[in-house]
Amino acid sequence: MPTLFVPRESKAGETRVAATPETVKQLVKAGLKVEIESGAGVPASFVDAGFQAVGAALVGPDAWGTADIVAKVAPPSQAELARLKQGAVLISFMTPSANLPIVAALRERGVSTLAMELIPRITRAQAMDALSSQATVAGYKAVLLGASHLAKMCPLLMTAAGTVPPAKCVVFGAGVAGLQAIATAKRLGCSVEATDVRLAAREQVLSLGAKFIDVPGMGDMEDKGGYAKEQTPEFLEKQRQEVAKRVAEADLVITTAQIPGRPAPKLVSRAMVESMKAGAVLVDLAVESGGNCELAKLGEVVVHQGVKIVGIPNLPASVPYHASELYAKNVLNLVKLFVQKDGSLNLEFKDEVLAGCLLTHAGEVPHKATAEALLAGAK
Ligand code: NAI
Repeated sequence: MPTLFVPRESKAGETRVAATPETVKQLVKAGLKVEIESGAGVPASFVDAGFQAVGAALVGPDAWGTADIVAKVAPPSQAELARLKQGAVLISFMTPSANLPIVAALRERGVSTLAMELIPRITRAQAMDALSSQATVAGYKAVLLGASHLAKMCPLLMTAAGTVPPAKCVVFGAGVAGLQAIATAKRLGCSVEATDVRLAAREQVLSLGAKFIDVPGMGDMEDKGGYAKEQTPEFLEKQRQEVAKRVAEADLVITTAQIPGRPAPKLVSRAMVESMKAGAVLVDLAVESGGNCELAKLGEVVVHQGVKIVGIPNLPASVPYHASELYAKNVLNLVKLFVQKDGSLNLEFKDEVLAGCLLTHAGEVPHKATAEALLAGAK
């Protein structure tokens, strides 16, 4: 019977876990032996007894060396992957472009790595789309974090002691995280405006009851995969002028704009921050890919002329229960694609979704962009 092992996350600040009692139940039903490293779920509020109750074995870190499948959240360290047995399957976020030495080591060990961020964004793969599930959590938390840094309340309140106007919120980027940020800010009672470069986003913003900031001459800047293309400097300048007025009046700004494989576009300049009101707050969700705000600093809350710029990374890890619940479901659905009816594993990874996220396999790097980056690094 193949074994699936869920280790404790070793990366600082990583509180999520790749399985929950609910998904363990399903994995066992699919024919796998499930091993959970003792304490792996505790930071996300899933206690060991909950896993045991549904048939998981509690194990120590030695299980790294015997598992057929290892499912985790953050990319493994060199020490961790050195324990993987030859031919094991690793399921994890990998951030391949930032972790080329790790990718090379996994290739050398003959590990089959399924990288969660490489799962194709196609309809059939939606139940495995961890980028979306985690972006949903991040968008929600960004607004709560921003609101808690504000010296103001968010909703319109009419009281005997006077009227409190609604907080003004501006959201940059109406993708998965941005739309959840908009919905959360609306629920808190903010008045919300949003900007994006994809025309499809306009309708989605309006359907949430927020306003869309139109940029004159805006064409559709969506690529075939539904993502934003890199924008011209002229467009970015027009957009900057259009949103600058809103940003100057905003209490809360949430930035989520990203372009896959490229640094995040710089959308909020120092001058724009300096035009903001004292006490205003900007939460930069793109801070891990360079930031949308010129003044954002990774892992810090910068105060510039009275404006707070929050650059806290990995917001999903600050809502670890639900972030894990969603991530674990994504992992379960991916595993089901290569566990056969009799519980054995089909390690050919021919399925479109598996092939799309296969980063290393049988001593090769099937993911083209990463293979090219490794080759360029070796020269
Ligand atoms: P993302 O995290 O790469 O980017 C966030 C948002 O920033 C996007 O909406 C993008 O258009 C926007 N953006 C980029 N440059 C900008 C700029 N200069 N100004 C303002 N906004 C800017 O994208 P995310 O959220 O992962 O997904 C974006 C889209 O991908 C979705 O809305 C959808 O169309 C597609 N998608 C499809 C899925 C599926 O079919 N399974 C699943 C998830 C996403």
